[in-house]
Amino acid sequence: MSQRCFPPIYWDGDAVAILDQRILPHQEKFLHCTTPEQVIGAIKTMAIRGAPAVGVAGALALALGARSIQTDDPKEFRRKFSRICLKVKDARPTGANLGWAVERLYSIVVENPKLGIVELKELIVADANAILNEDIASNRQIGKWGREVIPMGAKILTYCNAGALATADYGTAVGVIRAAFEADPTISVFSCETRPFLQGARLTVFELMRAGIPVTLITDNAVGSLMSQGRIDVVVVGADRIAANGDTANKIGTYMVAVLARTHDIPFYVAAPRSTIDPGLTDGNGIPIEQRDPKEVTHFCGKQIAPDGINALNPAFDVTPNKYISGIVTEVGMLRKPFSKSIRKALQV
Ligand code: MRU
Repeated sequence: MSQRCFPPIYWDGDAVAILDQRILPHQEKFLHCTTPEQVIGAIKTMAIRGAPAVGVAGALALALGARSIQTDDPKEFRRKFSRICLKVKDARPTGANLGWAVERLYSIVVENPKLGIVELKELIVADANAILNEDIASNRQIGKWGREVIPMGAKILTYCNAGALATADYGTAVGVIRAAFEADPTISVFSCETRPFLQGARLTVFELMRAGIPVTLITDNAVGSLMSQGRIDVVVVGADRIAANGDTANKIGTYMVAVLARTHDIPFYVAAPRSTIDPGLTDGNGIPIEQRDPKEVTHFCGKQIAPDGINALNPAFDVTPNKYISGIVTEVGMLRKPFSKSIRKALQV
């Protein structure tokens, strides 16, 4: 296994260590979770965020949960485990990876009706760890395929944080940037600050600076101007849920960037593992969009900036229609249009 970059979640003995991203970049502190409820809390409060990282956190929460069930009755074990699965799955709605990880671990219990409790626990913990390791391996592959479409010396725009911090390590969109930089140290990055939660300003630039990759922070509303001046060559973003036709949910504002990229003839790529694809959704209309506390909009760093009584909306994600997407980079290669066909094929590999 190659060297780790910036793992936001790992086992520390019997506890799940989670880097508390709410206080980055100023403090690097880990939460030590010993119960599924603590991991669920970390997901809900955004201590860990980013669809693949949330999927991995969900898997490790279930490993903690399975281990903690005290019973000799296999039926009771199954009942209790299924209850924990439901709670974990509900922690955040938009990212597909969480539901995917929960279904995968729950299927162990369903598909092995004869297995005893000790063996089930072992299988669940082993598969949760496999989910973590597979995510890192997938990201490295995404980087390898994705760098092929990054021109020499490119100025790359990315949005939100699709980095190591949003995954088990290495990152998806940032994974592509890392791999491109390894091959060509003349590339550079523009990172949008990503209102209102500022994942770009707080996390992406922090990660890229730590990796020694040249990065410039811009406001979200500077994108059109920079594109019109020819200062951006390619856009690479992550994804939270991809429908069967390629429509892609990602951080609120991504759609705006995609439309601008099309207007300026700039290629727009999505980088994501196949665990982000939801083949059950025909198109992006069915993607559940998380609505977050309006206070994230009306307040800044804990200080109210909007008048008392103002109505504010805070959808956390938007959906970019497939027509704006030049390609979807997955661990099994670059998927091209028509996405319904290339996605179906990728899921069969
Ligand atoms: O609300 P967040 O911070 O969990 O949103 C994260 C994003 O939208 C990322 O771009 C996406 O999860 C891809 S992460 C590899």
